[in-house]
Amino acid sequence: MIPINLPKIGEEEIAAVVKVMRSGPLTNALGAGPMVTAFEKKFAEFAGVKHAVAVNTGTAALHSAVVAAGVKQGDEVILPSFTFVATAEAVVMAGGKPVFTDIDPETYNLFPDEIEKNVTKKTKAIVPVDLYGFSVDSKPIRKIASEHGLAIVEDAAQAHGATYAGKPAGVFADAACWSLYASKNMTTGEGGVVTTDTDEVAETLRLIRTHGEKDKYASLMLGYNYRMSEIQAAIGLVQLEKLPTFVAKRRENAKRLTKILAASDRLKLPEESEERQHSWYLYTVRLQNATGNERNKIVEELKKKGIGAVAYYINPVHLMPYYREAFGERRLPETEKAASQVFSLPIHPGVTDAQVDYIGKALLDLL
Ligand SMILES: Cc1ncc(COP(=O)(O)O)c(C=O)c1O
Repeated sequence: MIPINLPKIGEEEIAAVVKVMRSGPLTNALGAGPMVTAFEKKFAEFAGVKHAVAVNTGTAALHSAVVAAGVKQGDEVILPSFTFVATAEAVVMAGGKPVFTDIDPETYNLFPDEIEKNVTKKTKAIVPVDLYGFSVDSKPIRKIASEHGLAIVEDAAQAHGATYAGKPAGVFADAACWSLYASKNMTTGEGGVVTTDTDEVAETLRLIRTHGEKDKYASLMLGYNYRMSEIQAAIGLVQLEKLPTFVAKRRENAKRLTKILAASDRLKLPEESEERQHSWYLYTVRLQNATGNERNKIVEELKKKGIGAVAYYINPVHLMPYYREAFGERRLPETEKAASQVFSLPIHPGVTDAQVDYIGKALLDLL
């Protein structure tokens, strides 16, 4: 089976881990040991901002950033439903009320006009998601946020290597949250990072990461144990250096697959431009005018041929039992349509040219 994603770990990562294991320290009680500090410095450079705060998951990154944005009990937060559930969890854990908002059918990301419609006096923040690794439309979202005094916490969990207006994804947000989970464009096994240009936000994030403490036994606010270990940071340093090569191979695979699949008029293919480059975390196609059953059948047939195609987010968050019960029914037509029509194909750096050709041809044959 050609898996949908596969971490690319080499001798360099293994050597980096062994070095930390032999010499220590393994972690730091206040969150920032030497490896974590070095990783944060490099990650901030990569993200094009002043600060990076490393934590132990992308979910922890999102939760910390939503809290640091000032979201409190009863505040409304605008976010997509077409995303991984962690985006919504972060809002709910902070005490906020998720206001699920519809997407642009072209990019699968939050549609700025829909955001505007959902702003109320209670709205505190917007959490847009760079779904599949394609940056949100940052400028109009920034305009809405500035007009209404809202914070933007961007879920960039899938966006390592993506750009918007020639800059790294997340730069236009107040904070951007990255996941380093094993499937992502770069990984530390589990891990996350929040990036921000604002000193005060970074300071709060560092407190939240480690029990609200700047000094031991003197908590300044409610905090958690969201610390990244030195071992994870050592892997992260190596992976970050390799990231451009990983993304280049993903892009090459995406281009090759697009050339083949362009022969079908049933598929809507993912696109990018000079100004808005994909991270190519997932190569996601839409089976136009299809029902969920038709889409699922194609995914099943691809699997039988050894191709690890996956339909992600088949149940958008607003339709999940917990969220429907807690926050009420809502209709999101574009979200629901996309959830029944899209699926993703493997293009990770381990996929060879011959495998890309095989995937493309197999899908064309099925169609
Ligand atoms: C869009 C999105 N948000 C949040 C997360 C949560 O990240 P993590 O799994 O590292 O907690 C992920 C990845 O799993 C994701 O894809």
